[in-house]
Amino acid sequence: MTCFDQVAEAAAFLKVRLASLNPRIGIVLGSGLGAVADAVTDPVVVPYAEIPHFPRSTVEGHVGRIVAGLLGGVPVVVMQGRVHFYEGYSPEEVTFPLRVLGALGIRAVVLTCAAGGIAEGYSVGQLVALSDHINLMGWNPLIGPNEPRFAFRPGAGLRFPDMTEAYSKALRSLAKQAASEEGFALDEGVYLAVSGPSFETPAEIRAFRALGATLVGMSTVPETIVARHMGIEVLGLACVANLAAGMGATTLSHQEVFAVGRQVEHRLARLLERLAPRIAALVETEKNEEKQP
Ligand code: HPA
Repeated sequence: MTCFDQVAEAAAFLKVRLASLNPRIGIVLGSGLGAVADAVTDPVVVPYAEIPHFPRSTVEGHVGRIVAGLLGGVPVVVMQGRVHFYEGYSPEEVTFPLRVLGALGIRAVVLTCAAGGIAEGYSVGQLVALSDHINLMGWNPLIGPNEPRFAFRPGAGLRFPDMTEAYSKALRSLAKQAASEEGFALDEGVYLAVSGPSFETPAEIRAFRALGATLVGMSTVPETIVARHMGIEVLGLACVANLAAGMGATTLSHQEVFAVGRQVEHRLARLLERLAPRIAALVETEKNEEKQP
């Protein structure tokens, strides 16, 4: 069975479970950021284990279920927990959930994650919108034969997808506006992805700073690449879970990352509740523009 067929099977299964919901927005929740799922009303909960071919997360803080319902009054599908390359999953498995979101008809995805802060000005617990990324994972999820059937909008599904605006400027500006209404500023940052699972050395962090990175993490980038391949718009939101290696007085631990996530998750939930109807309006406008001759 090809990956495309497996994705189609998983999506068909979910469509039945989601009934008439018809979400256009997907949200992927990172370490400790599960509260967004609790803000979903009339939820339909589907554990990953029930979905055909779906990978299961082995990391503490990643629950592993889909919560679909209304957020801020608009239909969304939330992935509570993701799988990572460092868990031993293949690139295809890591990005499988995003492919399923594409097949469900998702037009915009919010990818959230915990990250280490490299920029001097960041404080622990702050949220940062990704403006760009640097892929130092050592691989790309699109390696292998191109599958043009994964195009869910005109012009998508290309062998060489453009990455000039991997993270949508329009979504970022909506997010900044919503954050300022919530009473906080949303900085922009460049996310550098490593495979993990070891945290970085201080020398690596100095090197990454010289390369132009302001955040470092072990996820998000493969999902962004696959989303762009399918023509899905991406908003990346990182929670600065710790100062990157060598910058703070302490050593790094997953417990700390998880604990900071728990402090920030409610602010993130309020932001996304405010943001979801605006993202929905934006993707609807774009869809109508596509229909024009
Ligand atoms: N490095 C990599 N990934 C991370 C970090 C970090 O410091 N914090 C949270 N995720």
